Amino acid sequence: MAEHNNLYQRAIYYDVIFDRDVSREVEFLKEVYYQIVGRDLRSVLDLACGPGYHARTFAKQGYRAVGLDLRPEMIEFAQDKAREVGADVEWVAADMTNFRLHQPVDFAFCMFDSMDCLTTNEQILNHFRAMGDNLTPNGLYLVDLNHPISCSIGVYEPFCYAGQRNGISAEIRWAETPPQIDMIAGVAHTTLEIRIKDNGKEMVITDHAQERLLTPQELQLFAELSGTLKVVGWYGDFDLNQPFSSSPASRRMIVIFQKRS
Ligand SMILES: C[S@@+](CC[C@H](N)C(=O)[O-])C[C@H]1O[C@@H](n2cnc3c(N)ncnc32)[C@H](O)[C@@H]1O
Repeated sequence: MAEHNNLYQRAIYYDVIFDRDVSREVEFLKEVYYQIVGRDLRSVLDLACGPGYHARTFAKQGYRAVGLDLRPEMIEFAQDKAREVGADVEWVAADMTNFRLHQPVDFAFCMFDSMDCLTTNEQILNHFRAMGDNLTPNGLYLVDLNHPISCSIGVYEPFCYAGQRNGISAEIRWAETPPQIDMIAGVAHTTLEIRIKDNGKEMVITDHAQERLLTPQELQLFAELSGTLKVVGWYGDFDLNQPFSSSPASRRMIVIFQKRS
């Protein structure tokens, strides 16, 4: 996923398509934090949170939860959704390359391939440095990305998501037109099509974005260069028993960084 402005400005359609139960991911985050840091988790930051699925789930369980997104439309939408279910989340509209929370958190995470919207080395380094300022001592940062087997330079599989609710149905087709890959910058120029039926009204929206195709080795090097984070774990799914590997069971590329002391 990347900076698809046409999609992210229309939070309701994003939500109709991507609303999902994230409790398994939330349980994984709690377990992995305990395993690495050795104490119970108390506070989290959902980066590029969109409608805030993870922040809301943590808040409902009594954790201090912060949701941060670049787009004010997403934050307003997330705020309303949280209010509806009585989830007390702190919302921040900010760029994840440059932000300061009023209080640091124990565990930050950037889910669903959202970090690929940071396309330049400078943006990634600024982001990692910002993470150092916003984590508690020994704090963790998890990044969840598509597995390079299905999404990297030379391979970009098309995919489709759909959903419906309250008279709205929406479908996204990603990369039906093969993306143009800039091999030098490591960036894919992608196109997606959103087909919407909203209570009798039909719309087709086309959106373009750039996505950085990061490799595991680059992630490791960015952490070292940032001076603020170090890599402490890799997983292939939200499952402590699933290593990150080239096997089909390793669906995702999940990397865990820790704040350097
Ligand atoms: C894939 S969507 C949301 C993902 C959401 N976490 C989920 O699990 O469904 C990616 C989000 O990243 C946000 N975003 C893009 N660039 C950003 C930036 N530089 N800083 C913060 N958020 C950003 C977009 O506004 C969008 O809501």
